[in-house]
Amino acid sequence: MDDYAQAARLAVELVADYVASSRAGEGPVTAEPDPDALAGELELSRWIRSGGMDAAAFADWLPRYFQATVRLHHPGSMAHQVATPSTGAALADLVHGATNNPMAKYEMGAAGATIEREVVLWMLGQVGFDPGSGGGVLTHGGSIANLTALLAARAHAAPEAWRAGVPGDLALLAPRSAHYSIARAAAILGLGEDAVIELEVDELERIRVDRLPDALERCQIAGRRPIALVATAPATSTGLHDDLRAIGAFCIEHAVWLHVDAAHGGSALLSEAHRGRLAGIERADSVVWDAHKMLRTSALCAAVLVRRGSDLPAAFQQHADYIFDGRDTAGFDLVDRALETTKATLGLKLFLSLAWEGERGLGEYVASRYELTRRFHDALSREPGIVCPYVPESNILCFGVEGQDQLALRDQILAEGRLHLSSTTLAGERYLRIVVTAPDTSEETIGQLLDAVRLSQASPTR
Ligand SMILES: Cc1ncc(COP(=O)(O)O)c(C=O)c1O
Repeated sequence: MDDYAQAARLAVELVADYVASSRAGEGPVTAEPDPDALAGELELSRWIRSGGMDAAAFADWLPRYFQATVRLHHPGSMAHQVATPSTGAALADLVHGATNNPMAKYEMGAAGATIEREVVLWMLGQVGFDPGSGGGVLTHGGSIANLTALLAARAHAAPEAWRAGVPGDLALLAPRSAHYSIARAAAILGLGEDAVIELEVDELERIRVDRLPDALERCQIAGRRPIALVATAPATSTGLHDDLRAIGAFCIEHAVWLHVDAAHGGSALLSEAHRGRLAGIERADSVVWDAHKMLRTSALCAAVLVRRGSDLPAAFQQHADYIFDGRDTAGFDLVDRALETTKATLGLKLFLSLAWEGERGLGEYVASRYELTRRFHDALSREPGIVCPYVPESNILCFGVEGQDQLALRDQILAEGRLHLSSTTLAGERYLRIVVTAPDTSEETIGQLLDAVRLSQASPTR
């Protein structure tokens, strides 16, 4: 890495300019060129075959890469649940990129491992678990975190499954509004997707607490044992929260493992004004919380947290002699509780994001995005011909424009290059969807969205 310092200095300059111009709303917020043309433009096959890129060539190449990126710092970037990285988090990637300490084993990166332990203890405290008896680990994403949590739930219900295979009477209670990684976990864990017993939801796809006894009865009639009940805070599509307090009480009464998927909303625990939405999360047995959604870390940095720390090692009943030598060594290892063996120093991203912004600063950031989303709602719902099916509870909002094919409208808005939206269905209806995440999204962006919608109303697509 003789040229590292020179190339990295150039890269930092170019990335900083990219971030600054994105924040100023320059450049199309998203670009989807033809992949073959893009591969040619980026000279991918030439570089793969011949190598030899140096600092100067890299500085020429990187701006072309930027041309086909989604500019997450752009105020009009509102499509997906992807963080706008903070300075601290971005620096963590720089440091990890060169130091590369996969620290699931303490001896492979004491600093990274200690930082992960500290941020996990902090997260346990935020959730309301006792950091002294709870446990957790950072994973490469919320989907792996959900799988890990449900593996722990399966081990709790059927500890023999690890060796003998999965008994045929296991089930998982989850609503159809749960993130698809939940049904996927049921399949991966050997329960099978058919073992997911659907919880009834209301017209906004929130779990109907009054129908939980019926779901449990359906499970029992089918001769099945639930390994867990899954609630979401908030749901991916709508940003609406399940009633964790009532669901938690039900789970405690019936001794059912409660898994709360707070991948998106866990970060609201840092905001005094918004943490009430998660009341009851402390009753869960396991919780998933993604820092790479609203704690401003780059992808990926997710946490799986358990009320009883021993539930995670109990999920993985395995030994490998080159990793475990049975001796007491300095520090601690994470390999006994994580799906991954080689794990990036994920904690460094969250730590540096916190170190830069502070927990109060990140809480204020979350609150500001939630509150701005409410203002998007108020402005959109005042507009003739726009339907907002609910008042938002987070930074996710769905709305529909009457007389329009929502997908065609989305294409039209994206083509203008100023706004990036997504779309979803709710109760069978297609809606446009925004996730207000970029710190520079503002009242002005609301005006731009209204303008785009008004323009489309002049030429209905349906
Ligand atoms: C509620 C919820 N759970 C889990 C996930 C999956 O997380 P990841 O994309 O980090 O795998 C998401 C992602 O959107 C989510 O919204």
